[in-house]
Order: sequence, then C-alpha cells, then structure tokens
Amino acid sequence: MEEQERILSIVRDEIRRLFSDDFSGHDAWHTIRVERTAAVIAEAESCDVFVVRLGALLHDADDPKLFSTQDYQNARDIMARAYVDASTAQQVIAAIATVSFKGTDTQTPATLEGKVLQDADRLDALGAIGIARTFAYGGSHSRAMYDPELPPLLHMDEAAYRKNQGSSLNHFYEKLFLLKDMMNTDTARRMAEKRDAYLHAFAEEFLAEWDGKC
Ligand code: ADP
Ligand code: NI
Repeated sequence: MEEQERILSIVRDEIRRLFSDDFSGHDAWHTIRVERTAAVIAEAESCDVFVVRLGALLHDADDPKLFSTQDYQNARDIMARAYVDASTAQQVIAAIATVSFKGTDTQTPATLEGKVLQDADRLDALGAIGIARTFAYGGSHSRAMYDPELPPLLHMDEAAYRKNQGSSLNHFYEKLFLLKDMMNTDTARRMAEKRDAYLHAFAEEFLAEWDGKC
C-alpha cells in the first residue's frame, strides 16, 4: 500500500511538470480531479483502485491534441521511472487506450478499470467545472462564446468532431449533453445526473439572457 502511494506521488509530480503550461482545460488539475473521481467510482464498483488511479493520472499524457508521442510513450516512460511493474503498466495502458471522446467513433473500454476511468474523465466535462473548462478551451482556441447563426452539428464522426470550429455553447449540444447517457457504471451515472441538470440549467439561462428575457 505504501509502495502504491509512493508510485502515485511520483507520477503526480511528473504530470504536474508535463502539463505545467496548459490553459486549454487540460492542466494538471484536470488530471488530479479525474484521479479523485475515478478512485471514488472504483471503490464503489469494486475494481482495481490502483490501476484506475494510475490510469487517471496518465490518461492525457499522450493525448494526440497535446503531444506527438507514439504508443503511449510518455505514460510508459513515466511508469518506468516510477518502477511500476510490467503487468500493472500493461493494465494501465489498456485502460487509457480507449478513454477519449471521438463523436460517433467513441469506443467503450474492454476492462472495468478503463470504463471507470472513461466515466471519471467524462464527469470532469460536466457540472460547474465542465462549464468552466468549456469556456477556457473555447477562449484558448479563439472560439466564439456563442453565435446564434452557427447551429450545433450533431452526429459527427471523429474527423468532423476534430475539425469543428463551432462556438463554446454549441459544444454543450455537440458533446456535453450526450455524456450522461454514455456513462459505463451505475455510480458514474448517478453522479452525472446532477452535473447534467446543472449544465442544462446553465444553457437555458444563458440563452434567455442572450435574448434579454431575464
Ligand atoms: P478529454 O480528452 O479530457 O476528454 P477534450 O480534450 O475533449 O477532453 O476536452 C477538454 C475540455 O475542453 C473538456 O472540458 C471539453 O468539454 C472541452 N472542449 C473540447 N472541445 C471543445 C470545443 N470544441 N469547444 C469548447 N470546449 C471544448
Ligand atoms: Ni481528460
């Protein structure tokens, strides 16, 4: 147990360094929140909490939007430096390989640890934090907050989703509102309900204010 905490602490420090200059919603705090949420879900779903926490810490370390590494090299190097054993490292890579949202090309992870990790990552895109991240991402990618002349694009595949330059409010309709029904575990589904309701209330209020109705 102590050994596991030691490894997690080394990996957390490496992640803080790796994401030290990100302001697009992928700062180290995103990773640390995902670790916490993933641990809560993992306890409730009785799966391997250590693999889930390690996977959470490493889940964005090779995100192709941020890094040009091949075959999860950042995650593998960090685990090697923290002396993670080969079998655990393999389970972690399997868990992080299918986490990301890619429109209609999104995959469901094969392992319970991967499913929990995907749920925790998605929960961080919902609720108050999800709203803050969406506008932070939009700002850092020079997107409009909202443009009534640009309607949301639904049912995009991965290529269309990546290419899309829509407004931050459209992102609620294009991704965020879909996440509640994509949760893999019952624990995350319950957490998602509250966060999803908060998003809907925000979008409704935003549009009413836009039209001067409240
Ligand atoms: P992750 O890889 O952690 O699942 P993403 O890279 O898809 O997340 O997105 C990082 C954050 O930025 C999330 O909160 C996400 O909802 C938000 N985001 C992603 N794409 C857009 C977009 N086109 N407009 C506004 N926010 C976005
Ligand atoms: Ni993430």
